[in-house]
Amino acid sequence: MNASAESEKLKIRTLGVLTGGGDCPGLNAVIRAIVLTAERSNVRVLGIRNAFSGLIHKRFTELEAVEVDPLLQRGGTILGSSNRDNPFKYLMTINGKHQPVDVSETVIDNFKEMGLDGLIAIGGDGTLKITYDLVKKGIPAICVPKTIDNDLMATDVTFGFDTAVGVATEAIDRIRTTAESHGRLMVVEVMGRNAGWIALFSGLAGGADVILLPEIPFSIGAIANAIHEDRAAGKNFSIIVVAEGAHEIGGDVVVKRTVDDPTEPRRLGGVGNLVGQLLEEQTGIDTRVTILGHIQRGGTPSTYDRNLSTRFGVHAAKNAIEGNFGYLIALQSGKIELVPLAEAAKGQRLVSPDNDFIRVARSIGISFGDEI
Ligand code: F6P
Repeated sequence: MNASAESEKLKIRTLGVLTGGGDCPGLNAVIRAIVLTAERSNVRVLGIRNAFSGLIHKRFTELEAVEVDPLLQRGGTILGSSNRDNPFKYLMTINGKHQPVDVSETVIDNFKEMGLDGLIAIGGDGTLKITYDLVKKGIPAICVPKTIDNDLMATDVTFGFDTAVGVATEAIDRIRTTAESHGRLMVVEVMGRNAGWIALFSGLAGGADVILLPEIPFSIGAIANAIHEDRAAGKNFSIIVVAEGAHEIGGDVVVKRTVDDPTEPRRLGGVGNLVGQLLEEQTGIDTRVTILGHIQRGGTPSTYDRNLSTRFGVHAAKNAIEGNFGYLIALQSGKIELVPLAEAAKGQRLVSPDNDFIRVARSIGISFGDEI
């Protein structure tokens, strides 16, 4: 790169940061790391309120190091978040009709008016896709991968996942005591959308007897057989961990509600109740169901997530300050790498049926409900 291009690249004075999609433990830790890093290079950071909505309506606040320093342990996001405000499909009421409108030009104008030289967008697949579309329209931006679901293609792990797995595992441990005491079937439904990572990791760590994943359709008959075999071997209780996106062979996912989310309007939930009811009918064993829901997304980030968030935030800020835009900050084989957004925005990372966690689980007798 020649000297004038180099100096052109170094003219980053003000960065914007936003958090998109569902909240997640570690978001504030990323924001903190960005601001602390930027301040050391005399770069200002503007916190954009409520994801892309803040860019559409110019709602932002300047973030100071002293203000963000205590945020390492705090869950949620101080900036607010949303999974509804896609600038390319922004819902507006026109002539009394609720319809999607492309307001991306407003975002570009506001970006300039706010004096921003770069944007750091922290989010999951929806945020990544929107940011990539903005990059294609000339907004210099970089993304940080967030989601408890751990379903982003380009990174080995997203921050928030470890915390969610920890919460789910602790819940399974607690539920085990009732399962043992009453000889019951206890069904625990965990989040994860179309990916079974939370169910697989917490199920294995929590000593589940059955783990049901979206990636491996199940049959109630196969689960009932596995339970009967355990009983015949002298075990008087069973723990069944169900991913919210799991479904029967030939069946469909259980949808709890639909929302105004242009990336994924279906909100999953309730398959645990279905599995519990069918198993109780088929086995005659007293069954209870617990749906963990948003408890998995709340609260303080784990040690692992705090450190991953800090690494992601520092690398995002450094690259933005150096003018390296158009990338996702990713963790690959323990190292932080830059993955072009064009690649990172493609596809979902699902659990492969030959994943070692699945092989290990099967080797110790855990059923995935697919045995013939
Ligand atoms: O993507 C994170 C996640 O918590 C999923 O696991 C879950 O399906 C979804 O978000 C719930 O979304 P909401 O908070 O909009 O109900």
